[in-house]
Amino acid sequence: MSSSPNSPIVCNLPRVSIVGAGRVGSTLAQRVAEKNLADVVLLDIIAGMPQGLALDLMEARGIEIHNRQIIGTNNYADTSGSQIVVITAGLPRKPGMSRDDLLKTNAKIVVEAAKNAIAYSPNAIFIVVTNPLDVMTYLAWQATGLPRDRIMGMAGVLDSARFETFIALELGVLPADVKAMVLGSHGDLMVPLSRYATVNGIPITELLDAATIERLVKRTRNGGAEIVELMQTGGAFFAPASATSVMVESILLNQSRLLPVAAYLQGEYGLEDVVIGVPCRLGCGGIESVLELTLSDEEREGLHTSAQSVRQNIERSQEIIRNS
Ligand code: NAI
Ligand code: 2OP
Repeated sequence: MSSSPNSPIVCNLPRVSIVGAGRVGSTLAQRVAEKNLADVVLLDIIAGMPQGLALDLMEARGIEIHNRQIIGTNNYADTSGSQIVVITAGLPRKPGMSRDDLLKTNAKIVVEAAKNAIAYSPNAIFIVVTNPLDVMTYLAWQATGLPRDRIMGMAGVLDSARFETFIALELGVLPADVKAMVLGSHGDLMVPLSRYATVNGIPITELLDAATIERLVKRTRNGGAEIVELMQTGGAFFAPASATSVMVESILLNQSRLLPVAAYLQGEYGLEDVVIGVPCRLGCGGIESVLELTLSDEEREGLHTSAQSVRQNIERSQEIIRNS
């Protein structure tokens, strides 16, 4: 179709679709729009709810000074042509409930969401947030049939941010000056790499004694549960949304940030056919590379124990899906 000088210019702005417009999903929509990263489609099974949230976010645009479109929908057709699909659909943890207790319900939700979303956005990069994170990412990878560079899970960025926060609080320094990386699964078996943690380049082992570092590591491992216990009505969502938005940003802006990402491994770290958190370079193609760090025996053992637990839950989830 030829365009006349008066026809409106149609710009192909990047589109991020978020499946699950609950607390994490809706806060992520706000972060993505207000950081001016992309237009957002918020999808949920609850009729009217994503539409209401989208309208609310649209009405904040003049105040926040951006012009991103936010659409709320119950129909996957509206997610068509997304550059990124984020899956946050599913139940959050309740007090006393482990992430793995969520396995049964969330497996069905995530597989359905992944299949529906890929049908409308075959070129998208997928980020899974739903728990239990590593298992759900594996199931979404299977359901979409995507190459491993285009599907990943968010957890390590959040767990690292928590570790950095606790270090900063302990030392009374600016959180942004603390850099740390947490590998492994999102749960009690995560692997915070203390010896790589620094405050503006100074290793924390020079600033804190071993017992204090161990206390901070323990608090990081318990970071999600600590918030669930306090809130009693659901889990964390502000920091999870921020962590996911950083991944979205690195992909959309091709920043090639080196972030801990739950990735499907193909022999790295001696692990195969499992999803687990490892350092990845994230750019416009998704996972551009997986960095293989030299780990101590203890760190490597921690990563393998973590992977073993994810693998067992993948097997359990496959059984659940077969029998449902
Ligand atoms: P929420 O309950 O506020 O939102 C979940 C939303 O999913 C609800 O609006 C619900 O209607 C929707 N939903 C359920 N089934 C659906 C389906 N079939 N299709 C579309 N939407 C559907 O929960 P919240 O707090 O937003 O958490 C979402 C998930 O993210 C949970 O599994 C939680 O455990 C996980 N999470 C993971 C984190 C991570 O680090 N990976 C951090 C924080 C949360
Ligand atoms: C968190 O770590 C519950 O996975 C969620 O906050």
